[in-house]
Amino acid sequence: MKKLLDMLSEQVGEAFAACGYETSYGKVTVSNRPDLCEFQCNGAMAGAKAYKKAPIRIAGEVTQQLKARCGTVWREVSAVPPGFINLTLHEDFLAAYLTQAAADQKLGCPCPAITQNILVDYGGPNVAKPLHIGHLRSAIIGESVKRICRFMGHRVTGDVHLGDWGLQMGLIMQELKERRPGLPYFDPSWSGEYPQEAPFTIGELEEIYPAASAKSKEDEDFSRRAHDTTFLFQQGDPGLTALWRHIVAVSVRDLKENYRKLNVDFDVWYGESDAQPFIPAMVEKMKADGYAHESQGALVVEVAEEGDTKEIPPCILVKSDGATLYSTTDLATIVQRMEEDSLDQIIYLADKRQEMHFTQVFRCSRKTGLVTENVRLKYIGFGTMNGKDGRPFKTRSGGVMRLEYLIREIEDAVYRRIMENENRTMDEAQARKTAAIVGLAALKYGDLSNQASKDYVFDIERFSSFEGNTGPYILYTIVRIKSILEKYAQANADRVKSAGEKPAGGPILAAVSASEKQLQLCLSQFGETMAAAYSELAPHKICQYVYELSNALNQFYHETKILAEQEAERREGYIRLITLTKRVLETGIDLLGFYAPERM
Ligand code: ARG
Repeated sequence: MKKLLDMLSEQVGEAFAACGYETSYGKVTVSNRPDLCEFQCNGAMAGAKAYKKAPIRIAGEVTQQLKARCGTVWREVSAVPPGFINLTLHEDFLAAYLTQAAADQKLGCPCPAITQNILVDYGGPNVAKPLHIGHLRSAIIGESVKRICRFMGHRVTGDVHLGDWGLQMGLIMQELKERRPGLPYFDPSWSGEYPQEAPFTIGELEEIYPAASAKSKEDEDFSRRAHDTTFLFQQGDPGLTALWRHIVAVSVRDLKENYRKLNVDFDVWYGESDAQPFIPAMVEKMKADGYAHESQGALVVEVAEEGDTKEIPPCILVKSDGATLYSTTDLATIVQRMEEDSLDQIIYLADKRQEMHFTQVFRCSRKTGLVTENVRLKYIGFGTMNGKDGRPFKTRSGGVMRLEYLIREIEDAVYRRIMENENRTMDEAQARKTAAIVGLAALKYGDLSNQASKDYVFDIERFSSFEGNTGPYILYTIVRIKSILEKYAQANADRVKSAGEKPAGGPILAAVSASEKQLQLCLSQFGETMAAAYSELAPHKICQYVYELSNALNQFYHETKILAEQEAERREGYIRLITLTKRVLETGIDLLGFYAPERM
């Protein structure tokens, strides 16, 4: 189905053509002066140069043409100096458009003609380190980006890309070896099976890593031993490999639980380790093709390009001591991904401080032919989440905040608000359940409503408020619609049952009040919003939209007697309109990765 603005642009384009001008001048946009009109076309201004004519004259001619459609498409059209064409839509046309959108599976959003095969690399947690808020944004934004691409009809795979390789593993293994040297994993003469049970719990594991990391900074000798262990492990030592499997398994179990709470779901759980087997052949080929050369003992690929405004250092493949790096792993992961599935696009989510890394990796993979030029590599770098003091968010004691605690804090804040309500009908257990759903919305909306690249302040009080531009406010609006629909269904249950009628089936009716028209206009912008959110991979555009739509619904609700409307036909029309609003809002928040409770 076409977007409303495209339909309107066609109408105006035809009028331009009828006056002897290019149809392309007929492009219609939403008015930036809503006090004057709903839509506008500035084509006469652009055409003035090409046709050497005063813009107001062109606008006047075109307006004259458009007048023929007044009463069907337009309510009002006018030419305004210096050459604007102001447009107000006819209520019948708008209602007919929405009736069509309501019958459309995508609610009026056209999908791209060509379906792509897309992989979204997000989450990026590191094994054996607790999931902290540094990884929160990646999970929240990535999940939404994945859902947006899927909604547009693409085949999309979400890959968690576990950090399960490198020094951090060696640190844990070395620390464990020194604490419990008797474990069979460290016995080179061990020839039996290794135990099925992990020798630690997730709690112990999470204590071991920071201890080992701190020790390696103070104790050079320990640091060297950990390096040696890392090396031994990477050479495929069977005991350490068995131990590594336990570390990954225990960690992944815990991660899955955390992501489940966040309503984040990955299709595949590959890790950096899975890319390692692809490294040797990749490096050999880069050497053989003449792309990789030696520089100060390391093997590098030059990725600087003409016109660079800042220095882009070469991409290092292998260090002088033979170790491979983060970039080597990301390159090999591209090889792995392209071998398994021919992808059209890979989207990466990572902290914006990793921008240089991704520039190097993308350039290197293009230059060396790991991907063809048709494959799009896209990096979405996000800003940090700050505390009210403007510094990266920390716990009260100054440590890195664990995700679990953060979620609990926001749930508690929502719970308190629910319990404060004097008209509350929920008992404590229901309030707890609801607080979990609403808390998730508060957290995600608080994050996603900001442009991803910007830093933002995490403000629990503001995010959990039921009023203003917040997740809970959007949910509150949906719950309000649900409750009206429920009352309506109860009142009509008998009639519907006896007559076998489908309640409120039929078209969207022409708006009869300003607030109803405003709500319909807002609904008609869903396709436009989605197109922009997709092309810019920008969930914040959806947040802004659901907020505006919620405002329009609430304004309409306050000014309209919906259930008490005397005229049955009109009352049912209202029910259909708010039902459509509910669907659009629910679709919107599903794309953001959260959902509404039944009551709140
Ligand atoms: N594990 C990394 C980190 O914690 C993030 C991974 C991002 N994805 C990637 N393909 N490099 O910083």
